[in-house]
Amino acid sequence: MNKRIGILTSGGDCPGLNAIIHGVVKCASQKGWEVYGIPYGTEGFLKLEQGKWQPEDLRLQEYGYNLPGLLQGIDILQFLSGSILGSLSKGNTEDKAIAQTIIQGYKDLQLDALIAVGGDGSLDIIYDLAQQGQWNIIAIPKTIDNDVPFTERSIGFRTAVDTVTSALYNLTFTAASHDRTMIVQVMGRDAGHLALHSGIAGGADVILIPELTPQIDANLMNDICIRIAQLRKSGRKFALVIVAEGVKNLQGEKEKYIGDYLAQKIDEISHKLCLSDKPEFCNLDKIETRATVLGHIQRSGTPSSYDRLLAAAFAKKALDLIAEEHYNQLVVWQNGEVQSQPLDKVVAYIKKCHQQGVCPSPVNPDGFLVQTARSLGIYLGNGKR
Ligand code: F6P
Repeated sequence: MNKRIGILTSGGDCPGLNAIIHGVVKCASQKGWEVYGIPYGTEGFLKLEQGKWQPEDLRLQEYGYNLPGLLQGIDILQFLSGSILGSLSKGNTEDKAIAQTIIQGYKDLQLDALIAVGGDGSLDIIYDLAQQGQWNIIAIPKTIDNDVPFTERSIGFRTAVDTVTSALYNLTFTAASHDRTMIVQVMGRDAGHLALHSGIAGGADVILIPELTPQIDANLMNDICIRIAQLRKSGRKFALVIVAEGVKNLQGEKEKYIGDYLAQKIDEISHKLCLSDKPEFCNLDKIETRATVLGHIQRSGTPSSYDRLLAAAFAKKALDLIAEEHYNQLVVWQNGEVQSQPLDKVVAYIKKCHQQGVCPSPVNPDGFLVQTARSLGIYLGNGKR
């Protein structure tokens, strides 16, 4: 039976959103289904009801986004980051009248199902709307933070790891030329996946993640400075320190620029250690530091082949679930396979974590990657070197 499906992207963007849209449109066109792209998350339904668009304006066609002239026929969508549909990080669905209009938008578009691409925050909001409006929904996880529960991978994460890894590579040579310690602040919200993966792959000497270092303290600062001094003694005159944005300052508060904060503390404390005649510091008067905040560069860039592949597989699974009319599912990657998990379970878990103020899918502090980092001699805080 032919179906009419909608797709929206919600929350912060990441590389690979367009690859999902590409995959959904391609798979749907093989089946002869129609796809409607909802602009700016659920806000698109509101604007549709307000007459900003007509349903036909939202129709996504295979090759409908073709380039003109000689480039015609090049299927570029899966290579572009961002989202051609736009995305919103914040919704206004707490307003009951607005929520009702959004719900009506789905009905008026006569959709059989909606594919919602989002992270933990947007899945929570969209699922509530879907329940109220009795929408048939399939969710696909995306986020560079990799913190959606019940899935080992979310779209965008692997590309962000590549971006941070290549930044570490680029910083290595300038750090080495000036005998400096480079502090690199990376995104991830309350999760340390991005810092841990890219720190290992990019040759970091110190990796600080909220799961192991919820906040900086005096012992940790001392340890980092001594670690850097030891590196210098053993012949490595520079150091790379990667800090996840979720790590808090000495007072246990979030810092917008925790990388700068850390750089300043390393400067100060290494100077004090030097004056106190610590033998490791005999060839230093202080450690010279520079901080880099990678920022939204991590959310962009051509999606890696891994993310494009995952996007295609997730799109296929979403369409399979719609064909089976097996709705209210989150498409997930578990044990090397694409599977699905009931959204009621996933969202209940996300809500519980949000209420408790904890990350829904943190790094396992005893996991193999943490052990790997330690085996490589990378300092991860928490008193162990
Ligand atoms: O959740 C993705 C993310 O990039 C986080 O890593 C980061 O903390 C946040 O979004 C930044 O959000 P915004 O783009 O709204 O500043």
